[in-house]
Amino acid sequence: MSEHTNPEDLVLVVGGTGKSGRRVAERLDAVGLPVRRASRSSAIPFDWEDPSTWAPVLEGATKAYVSYYPDLAFPGATEQIRGFAELAVAAGVRHLVLLSGRGEPEAVASEKVVQDAGADWTVVRCDWFAQNFGEGFLLDPVLAGMLALPAGDVGVPFVDLDDVADIATAALTRPGHAGELYEVTGPRLLTFADAAAELSAASGREIRYLPVTSEQFAEVLTGVGLPPEHAAALNDLFAEILDGRNANLADGVQRALGREPKDFTAYARAAAATGVWAAIGQEG
Ligand SMILES: NC(=O)c1ccc[n+]([C@@H]2O[C@H](COP(=O)([O-])OP(=O)(O)OC[C@H]3O[C@@H](n4cnc5c(N)ncnc54)[C@H](OP(=O)(O)O)[C@@H]3O)[C@@H](O)[C@H]2O)c1
Repeated sequence: MSEHTNPEDLVLVVGGTGKSGRRVAERLDAVGLPVRRASRSSAIPFDWEDPSTWAPVLEGATKAYVSYYPDLAFPGATEQIRGFAELAVAAGVRHLVLLSGRGEPEAVASEKVVQDAGADWTVVRCDWFAQNFGEGFLLDPVLAGMLALPAGDVGVPFVDLDDVADIATAALTRPGHAGELYEVTGPRLLTFADAAAELSAASGREIRYLPVTSEQFAEVLTGVGLPPEHAAALNDLFAEILDGRNANLADGVQRALGREPKDFTAYARAAAATGVWAAIGQEG
């Protein structure tokens, strides 16, 4: 156990089976801290849509990593974060670490709620996760060999979730991170065409990028079964975060961890080595 962790601490990881939460929980397990993963499928079920499930997962928790689902930019998120943060502090949580999204004005409202909740806070405000291509909503398009996105040729500083989890874990286990807002990006800008080329090189299969309009993207989203309100919210979100406002680098990894962020090429090679993209182009 780290010299800075308290044996009395119980860390709640909201979204503990998700892309970021799983990594945070694994790191906390590794330093020997008691961890409680919370999601709809956890031992004590937790559902953002059902506030009656919030208090049971908070019982005894002293710190919390909070990844919201589906996205802090979606309607209603700020009120849910407010209700959860207030309940958490009343239950004895002394440090809240919030996963947030970069370039999203709606997410800033949730950040403020957490900052004002009455506990120590750390905000990890991230750009686009590299892991979306291998574990997230872009896995199926990658397996089909075609990324159709309303992204034009905008530069994106893809973030490796190992960096995000390292920052969140540092905030939960070491002093010096309370009251810090870490704006997290990768080390360079790539267009989606660049990313597709990197994924192709790493996987040995052809993955193409097709820039589409927001209208075309809406059709793609409803075509894959997303409820219309989610499709609309996602389209609005992408119009915001892919308009060039995030086409710059930030220093959150360097400030929080004192090292450089992981690069997309390393991500692509490591993910390809797991075999996650072995089936590219083999369907049908
Ligand atoms: N993707 C990106 O590029 C990006 C960039 C910046 C910020 N973010 C933020 O990342 C957050 C998502 O985090 P993530 O990517 O680590 O998670 P994720 O991989 O999307 O996983 C979602 C997690 O939430 C749980 N979940 C789903 N629906 C739920 C519900 N109704 N109530 C409670 N839990 C629920 C899931 O587990 P169960 O299925 O067991 O419930 C799972 O643990 C979003 O707030 C988003 O804004 C994403």
